[in-house]
Amino acid sequence: MRAKILSTGSYIPERVITNFDLEKMVDTSDEWITERTGIKERRIVADNQATSDLAYEASINALKKAGLTSQDIDLIIVATVTPDMLVPSAACILQMKLGASKAVAFDINGACTGFIYALSVAEKFIRTGAAKRALVVGAETLSRFTDWTDRSICVLLADGAGAVILEGTKKDEGIKVIDIFSDGNMWDFIHMPAGGSKMPVDETVLKKRLNFIKMRGNETFKVAVKTLEEVVVATLQKGGIESSQLNLLVPHQANIRIIQAMAKRLSLPMEKVMVNIDKYGNTSAASIPIALDEANESGKIKKGDNVMLAAFGAGLTWGAALIKW
Ligand code: ACO
Repeated sequence: MRAKILSTGSYIPERVITNFDLEKMVDTSDEWITERTGIKERRIVADNQATSDLAYEASINALKKAGLTSQDIDLIIVATVTPDMLVPSAACILQMKLGASKAVAFDINGACTGFIYALSVAEKFIRTGAAKRALVVGAETLSRFTDWTDRSICVLLADGAGAVILEGTKKDEGIKVIDIFSDGNMWDFIHMPAGGSKMPVDETVLKKRLNFIKMRGNETFKVAVKTLEEVVVATLQKGGIESSQLNLLVPHQANIRIIQAMAKRLSLPMEKVMVNIDKYGNTSAASIPIALDEANESGKIKKGDNVMLAAFGAGLTWGAALIKW
């Protein structure tokens, strides 16, 4: 048995912050941000919204499209690095909001690779029969952990949520290959120093602004390009297809230059690569399911297509999935 994606859904917060808005907040320019990242604008949550609220909207959207109710779901996994609170999980809060009383619910922290991590776990539940229908969500409110005085990071991060419903299938369709990887040696490339058990928040932390995400962007960039190409090549090989047989690559939306470099190394024309970073920025675990939903809704994916998901992020973590739609 394989796991297949029954439906996709997403939710994008209403508030837009453009590069021109950021020009008024930090020493940056629309030109720098566009050229270096590909981002033109991003979405930010309302004051009364938390991660589970975004996850809820994306989940309802996916459930409706599948013609299901929350009672049909027996597994909920939320991929996030920005849960509503440290305890309990965002997934349990989402379960309550959905009224999904038959589901077991938990979070996964795989940073920007989080959605592929969650999909990988859910796929095993479905394949082994431990779950019948899974709701897999990537949801983030990175704006709450962004230092809006630090130009090296505040131009990148954003909020949003995407979701998919998984079900078992005996046909030649669904997730053919899914592999996830980690290397903790480079944990400090992207991290939030305070707010966990190592450095609880106190006055010094607040003064030094250590309760925000920090990134060694340039070093991360170099590892990301190389690793993403390698993981996609390995996944294609495992799936027994050439890159020319791929119909769509849906990469994590961290930087347009990473995406373009990856496409070039794989000899993939950009028409076969899903890009929406210009509108939404880097939404970490939410970026792939949002892009997948947009591709699905706009008719970019057809039944039988070979679709590749690939991500790289803090941890370091990375992974890819080959899906026959
Ligand atoms: N506006 C203007 N100038 C800026 C800005 C800004 N917003 N940010 C940095 N600069 C300056 C720097 O200070 C530096 O100036 P200097 O040359 O005078 O020292 C110059 O621009 C170049 O800085 P770099 O950091 O070398 O710029 P780079 O081209 O590497 O772009 C970026 C930075 C966009 C962060 C890029 O490195 C990147 O995308 N990295 C990878 C991100 C990634 O993949 N992350 C993983 C997922 S994220 C997650 O897991 C949450």
